[in-house]
Amino acid sequence: MENDSLADQIVKVANWVTAARGVVIFTGAGVSTESGIPDFRSPGGLWEKYDPDDFLYQKIISSEESRRKYWKMHSELYYTITQSDPNPAHFACVELDKMGKLDCLITQNIDNLHQKAGLPEEKILELHGNSMKVLCLSCGKQYRRDEIQEWLENGIEAPSCEECNGILKPATIAFGQAMPQRETEEAVEKSRNCELFIAMGSSLVVHPAALMPLYAKEGGARLVIINLTSTPYDDQADLIIRGKAGEVIFSIVERVKKEVGKDLSGTTD
Ligand code: APR
Repeated sequence: MENDSLADQIVKVANWVTAARGVVIFTGAGVSTESGIPDFRSPGGLWEKYDPDDFLYQKIISSEESRRKYWKMHSELYYTITQSDPNPAHFACVELDKMGKLDCLITQNIDNLHQKAGLPEEKILELHGNSMKVLCLSCGKQYRRDEIQEWLENGIEAPSCEECNGILKPATIAFGQAMPQRETEEAVEKSRNCELFIAMGSSLVVHPAALMPLYAKEGGARLVIINLTSTPYDDQADLIIRGKAGEVIFSIVERVKKEVGKDLSGTTD
C-alpha cells in the first residue's frame, strides 16, 4: 500500500472518489496546521503548551480556577483562529461538494474553517462543537465569541451569564462532556453507510470520534487515511498516504474534477 508513489496513490484515490456514489470526509486538527493553527499532539502542539487535564469538564464546572485557566487558553487561541484562513484542504472539500461527491464532512475541529471555506452548514457534522459560539451552561443563552473576547480583554477572567449568572463556556466539547447527540448519531450512520471514507489530519486517538473510520470499514467502505504520522487504524486502511493533507486532498480533487469534466464533456481519450 505504502510502496506506491505519491502520484500513484493520488490517482488511485481519485479513481475511488470518481467511482463512489458519495464520500465521507473526516478531519482533525492536522488539516488546520497549514492555516497556522497548531494541532494538539504534534511536537509544538497545544497539549505541549497546556495540560489537557486542566480542562476536564468536571473541573471546569466545579472550579473557578479551572475556568480561569480554560478561558486563558481560549483567549490566547482566539486571534490564532479568527486570523487564520482556510487552506487547500478545506477548499478541496468544498470542491468535492460542488461536484455532488460529498456525503458529509465529519470534523473534530472547532476552528470554523470548513464553514469559512464555504462548505454549507448542513454538510458539516461538528463532533467537538465550535469555538466561535459561547453558551451559558445553565440557561443556554448564546453569546458571540467576539463579544466575550472583549470581556476577557477587559479583565473578566471567567465570564458568567448576564441573564442567570451561570457558567459561560465556548460551545466546544471538553473531555468528559457529553457528545452532541444529533451530530454523533448522524456521523455514525453516515460512516456506516458510505462507500469511501477519507480520514485526514487526525491522530485518531480520541473516542468516540476516532471510531468513525472503524464504522466505515464495518459498513463495507474503503478507508483512506491521509496523515503525516501513523494512527491506530492504519492496519484497517485500504490506503495510507503519508503527506500533507492540503497538498494531497487538493491533488486528488483536482484529478477528480478532470475525470468528472471529461465525463460531462463526453470526451473519451
Ligand atoms: N497534513 C496531514 N497530517 C497532519 C498535518 C498536515 N498538514 N499536520 C498535522 N498532521 C497530523 C499529525 O501527525 C497528527 O497525527 O494530524 C494529526 C493531528 O492529531 P491531533 O493533534 O491529535 O488532533 P486530532 O486528531 O484532531 O485530535 C482529536 O483531541 O484534544 C482533542 O478535542 C481535541 O478534537 C481534538 C481531538
